Amino acid sequence: MKYKKIKGIEKEVSMIALGCMRIDRLSVEALESLVEVALSLGINFFDHADIYGGGQSEVIFGEVLKRNPQWREKMILQSKCGIRNGYYDLSKAHIISSVEASLKHLQTDYLDVLLLHRPDALMDPAEIGEAFESLYKRGIVKAFGVSNMTPGQMSLIQKHSEFPLLFNQLQFNVVHSGMIDAGIYANMKDASAIDYDGGVLDYCRVNDITIQCWSILQASWTEGSYLDHPNYEALNLLLKSLGEKYNVSPSAIATAWILRHPAGMQAIAGTTTPENLRKIAQATTITLSREDWYALYKSVGRQLP
Ligand SMILES: NC(=O)c1ccc[n+]([C@@H]2O[C@H](COP(=O)([O-])OP(=O)(O)OC[C@H]3O[C@@H](n4cnc5c(N)ncnc54)[C@H](OP(=O)(O)O)[C@@H]3O)[C@@H](O)[C@H]2O)c1
Repeated sequence: MKYKKIKGIEKEVSMIALGCMRIDRLSVEALESLVEVALSLGINFFDHADIYGGGQSEVIFGEVLKRNPQWREKMILQSKCGIRNGYYDLSKAHIISSVEASLKHLQTDYLDVLLLHRPDALMDPAEIGEAFESLYKRGIVKAFGVSNMTPGQMSLIQKHSEFPLLFNQLQFNVVHSGMIDAGIYANMKDASAIDYDGGVLDYCRVNDITIQCWSILQASWTEGSYLDHPNYEALNLLLKSLGEKYNVSPSAIATAWILRHPAGMQAIAGTTTPENLRKIAQATTITLSREDWYALYKSVGRQLP
């Protein structure tokens, strides 16, 4: 495993994290095996949200922690709040009550990291700052970040909080790559030049904010995974041939494509099976050449300007 030192987080964070969005489908025993394998691979970062599995993902993870209390101190536990049933809510009251519920579900005394899950159009940054201060002073959240936010939204929140935003969790992979397309196509009139994220990649790099990539293997909600998907034949042929070249799995090549970026992004793996997690973790044993990185980028039909 490869790790990154992030100012404000005591332990070095693993470059691959285990995403817990889909674990509600597992039994406690199956999740226990998955977490054990994750830890044995050196994965120390676990990403939750209050809404995953309607709360059940945190609950079942809490059961696993109860059975293995010695694991807690090895882990960096992150959860998120702000998505409610049909609306977003980043009010002070909701942020605080969501964290309290997550702690109860996870059967732990503190979160290492809390992320604001999505921008709430009605968010008041001063209230968010107050919520962060209260959670930090009570010792129940140690560090903060956001997800799916623009540079402007992050600046606004940061203006009202003394706690640095350490992370922005964003959708990113070789198929869903708007974050880098806009930079590559800068100054052109192609659709790829459209900056959907307000220059979020450069902003995060300039401000030492680590990007966490979600859905590393998904093309889109409708298509599902791009692995072995007929719409991505050229990509899959290349993932396979590069897998043979580097002696790792195709999913490791896809993950290595993310890790190769010098921004030092974390990849959040959402697999629920130990075998698939082992294959993804092989990504940290290789470094893609520049030529191979660009070949993958172009394999989904892009041309360089
Ligand atoms: N901030 C946000 O807005 C946001 C949104 C979505 C997700 N997330 C976070 O990101 C994490 C990852 O998202 P995700 O679950 O969509 O990620 P993902 O890793 O792209 O997808 C995992 C899914 O792909 C399947 N899959 C198919 N073939 C696979 C293979 N060869 N290797 C591995 N998996 C394969 C997995 O099945 P198996 O389980 O059978 O392996 C699993 O159902 C989530 O758990 C959550 O923590 C955040």
